[in-house]
Amino acid sequence: MVDSIRIKATGSVSNVACGFDCLGYSMEKPGDEITLTKNKLDEINITISGIQAEKIPINPVKNTAGKAIISMLSYLELSHGFDLHIKKGIPPGSGIGSSASSAVGAVFALNKILGNPLNEEELMIHAMEGEFVASGSRHADNVGPSLYGGMVLIRNYKPLDIIHIPVPECLWNITILPYYEVNTKDARKILPKYVSLSSAVQQTGNLAGFILGCINSDFNLISRSMEDLFAEPLRKKLIPGYEIVKNSAIENGAIGCGISGSGPSMFALSTNQQTAELVAKKMQFSFKKSGLESKSYVSKINKNKPQILD
Ligand code: HSE
Repeated sequence: MVDSIRIKATGSVSNVACGFDCLGYSMEKPGDEITLTKNKLDEINITISGIQAEKIPINPVKNTAGKAIISMLSYLELSHGFDLHIKKGIPPGSGIGSSASSAVGAVFALNKILGNPLNEEELMIHAMEGEFVASGSRHADNVGPSLYGGMVLIRNYKPLDIIHIPVPECLWNITILPYYEVNTKDARKILPKYVSLSSAVQQTGNLAGFILGCINSDFNLISRSMEDLFAEPLRKKLIPGYEIVKNSAIENGAIGCGISGSGPSMFALSTNQQTAELVAKKMQFSFKKSGLESKSYVSKINKNKPQILD
C-alpha cells in the first residue's frame, strides 16, 4: 500500500440538453490533479494551486474534495489525517464539472491509498457529498462521467442506478468555456420547482430518443432529441450571447448544442473532427461578438476513468 498518490480526474458535460441531472459524459481535458498524502495528524489539510485557486475554500468541510474525503473516512470509520493538494485545471463556476472532478479525484485517490475497500458505486456516493458542498444538490451527472468515463445515465438516485451509454465512435464533443462565471447554486435557484406534464412528456421522449440514437448511431435522432425544456429556457439568460453562439454551432454543422451543466460553458456535438473544429471556431467567434473571450476543448468523448499520475 502507498502513503501518497497523485490522480487526475477530468471535467464533464452534464445534462447534455435532454438529460437534466441524469445524463453526462466525460471530457478528455481539462482536469484537476489531486495529491493525497497520509499525515500523522488526525486532520485534513488542504492546499490549492492552479486556476482560480484563491476562490476555493480550504476548510475541509466547505471544500468539495475535503468533504468527499470526510464522508468516505466516516463511512469506513477511519480517523487518518491526510494532506490534500488540489491543482485546479478546471475553473470553478464553469459548467464543466469543476467541483465534481476534485471530489472524484479525492475519493479515487483515497480508495487507492486504503487498498480499494469501496467499489465505484460507493465512491460515487461520497463524491456526491462533495458536489453537495459546491452546488447545494447531490446530483451525479458530473461525478458519474468523471468517475466512470464515457457517457452515463443516472437512471435512479435512491438507490443509485448507473447505466453506461454506448457512444458512437465518430461522435465529437465541442465545449466552449467563456471567461465568465455562473455559480451553480444560483443557476439552480432559478429553476422551476415543478414542470408541466406536457413538457415532462416531451423531455422524456427526447431523452429516450437521444439514448436510442446513441445506441443505433442515428445522428438525425440524436439531433432531434437535443432539446431542453427544463433548464435552458431560464438559464440561457445567464449566458451573454447564448442564442447567437448556439445558432452558429448549428449553422456550421453541429448536430446539437446547449448549455454544459449549469453554464456558462456551452457544448455541441458533431460527427467528425473537421466539423468539430469549425464549430468550435465559430462558437468562440460568436462569444467574442457578445463581449466574451473563451477557450475551446475539442475531442472525442473521454472513455477513461481517473488516471494515476504517480
Ligand atoms: N445537472 C446540474 C445542473 C449540473 O444542471 O444544475 C451542474 O452541476
